[in-house]
Amino acid sequence: MKPPPASATVRVRRADNTDLDDLIALEQRSFDSDRLSRAQYRRHLDSASALVLVASANHRHFLGTAVLFFRKGSTIARLYSLATQPAARGKGVGSSLLQAAIRAATDRHCRALRLEVRTDNASAIRLYEQLAFRRIGQLPQYYQDGMDAWRYEKTLAH
Ligand SMILES: CC(C)(COP(=O)(O)OP(=O)(O)OC[C@H]1O[C@@H](n2cnc3c(N)ncnc32)[C@H](O)[C@@H]1OP(=O)(O)O)[C@@H](O)C(=O)NCCC(=O)NCCS
Repeated sequence: MKPPPASATVRVRRADNTDLDDLIALEQRSFDSDRLSRAQYRRHLDSASALVLVASANHRHFLGTAVLFFRKGSTIARLYSLATQPAARGKGVGSSLLQAAIRAATDRHCRALRLEVRTDNASAIRLYEQLAFRRIGQLPQYYQDGMDAWRYEKTLAH
């Protein structure tokens, strides 16, 4: 797949059922463990407590995705997943998705957005810190393969 040109405007929209094949393919390319299944994605697309976002640019309709969870009675939203197509990385797609996730959580009146990230995932950590996420904890052996996670949180401005 060709990456978007550096000047392309990245748009972010809500995912629908026509995105399922792309969502699953990107999940498999991006994560070695703790993957979302097709059935889980289908449920999240229909759920009021989940939001699946998709990034596109010009005619390239699927460049990446972010998955957000909301819990009834909680004002903390969770960014469960963020991934950009390998050929489109380093062009602002991840940052656009993360900013859209922050806006969506703010619009739902959440006071914070939280996420966990592998402690060896330097590019994701840089992206989160650039957008003012703060490291608030370490979770030993959090992932299926035994890797630790950092927990990050961003306080949302209202
Ligand atoms: C982490 C991940 C989502 C980042 O996505 P991305 O689309 O590459 O993110 P961005 O392009 O917004 O930012 C990445 C880099 O590109 C740079 N960049 C952003 N816009 C740019 C542009 N227009 N031109 C050139 N570089 C740009 C950023 O400054 C950043 O640089 P840095 O990492 O050296 O600081 C992606 O690497 C990925 O999918 N990884 C696999 C899955 C994963 O690990 N997900 C996160 C854990 S849940």
